[in-house]
Amino acid sequence: MSEVTKEQVMNALRTVIDPELGMDLVTLKMVREVNIDNGVVTVDVTLTTPACPLKSTIEDDIRMAVSALEGVKDVQVRFDADVATDKRIFGRLSLDVRNIIAVASGKGGVGKTTVAVNLAVALSQEGARVGILDADIYGPNVPLMLGLQGQRIGVRNGKMIPPQAYGVYAISIGFLVPPDTALIWRGPLLHSSIRQLFNDVDWPSLDYMIVDLPPGTGDAHLSLAQSVPVTGGIIVTTPQQVALMDARRGLVAFQQLNVPVLGIIENMAGEVFGVGGGEAAARELNVPFLGRVPLDPEVREGSDSGTPIVVSHPDSPAAQAFRELARKIAASISVLNFQPSVELKVV
Ligand SMILES: Nc1ncnc2c1ncn2[C@@H]1O[C@H](COP(=O)(O)OP(=O)(O)OP(=O)(O)O)[C@@H](O)[C@H]1O
Ligand SMILES: [Mg+2]
Repeated sequence: MSEVTKEQVMNALRTVIDPELGMDLVTLKMVREVNIDNGVVTVDVTLTTPACPLKSTIEDDIRMAVSALEGVKDVQVRFDADVATDKRIFGRLSLDVRNIIAVASGKGGVGKTTVAVNLAVALSQEGARVGILDADIYGPNVPLMLGLQGQRIGVRNGKMIPPQAYGVYAISIGFLVPPDTALIWRGPLLHSSIRQLFNDVDWPSLDYMIVDLPPGTGDAHLSLAQSVPVTGGIIVTTPQQVALMDARRGLVAFQQLNVPVLGIIENMAGEVFGVGGGEAAARELNVPFLGRVPLDPEVREGSDSGTPIVVSHPDSPAAQAFRELARKIAASISVLNFQPSVELKVV
């Protein structure tokens, strides 16, 4: 029996479609290498995110296509990832960040910071390089939720060194001034402080930078959008009836700033606040519903004690929900970046 050829394997891989991008793996240049050794075929695939929700589907499809070839005894699939880049950011910033994701809400206290922190840690757990920028100048909560409260900031080459927790690099005004002093940052100072959190920080190369916005639709959103191209915005809301109104405010703010909206997250779902308000709002506003996170006292305890629930209780339904959300968001960013028509928008 003759050995199967690389060409035959590549042709088989041309029939395997990436379900999200809608094209085959070869055309997408996702097949990095094919090795054949005595009928054992090894396929190395480079995904557009390590948090790919369809990894196992793609693996199954590859196995099926390749093992159908004559002379194939076994198929091994290996994955790595090269995160897709938002081309609008590329070359425009002094920092090497591939995607910027903003987390917002129409009103306060719905769980933006909790969501931002858990998404960041979940993406990092999947193997992505992640940073979180606390753009809530008046009530910076990111240090507390990452267990970095009171952390002193080092300086390297005239730039602040972002401390790291659970694999995530973080920066916050909370590291620089005591909480009550933060209240004096207003207007132009707010704008320049948000810019500084991007430019005056020695950020490492990042796949995803999560930006935690203050509640409402105010100056911080504007400052952010004027400082950097935002790849996508996420709106957090609660299950109640008022969710629609809140989500609409968040949506309009992003739309006015030309930020593509990735979708709505319903947080604190359960017996107390009910279920479904966020999903209904997404339907009504015609944006994707990304998923819901249950109301769970462990979530609050994790935030208060500086150990996000995806670390403290990784098997809890809330942690699973955060991980699923992280994968979904990573996938929608890959799809967004894949659209060849993403225009350069100069602000
Ligand atoms: N799914 C959840 N289950 C239980 N408690 C939660 C959940 N999500 C958030 N919380 C708690 O709700 C409170 C508000 O959350 P958080 O600070 O993340 O909201 P926020 O929208 O960032 O608030 P702000 O508008 O003040 O910035 C916190 O005490 C947090 O621990
Ligand atoms: Mg917050």
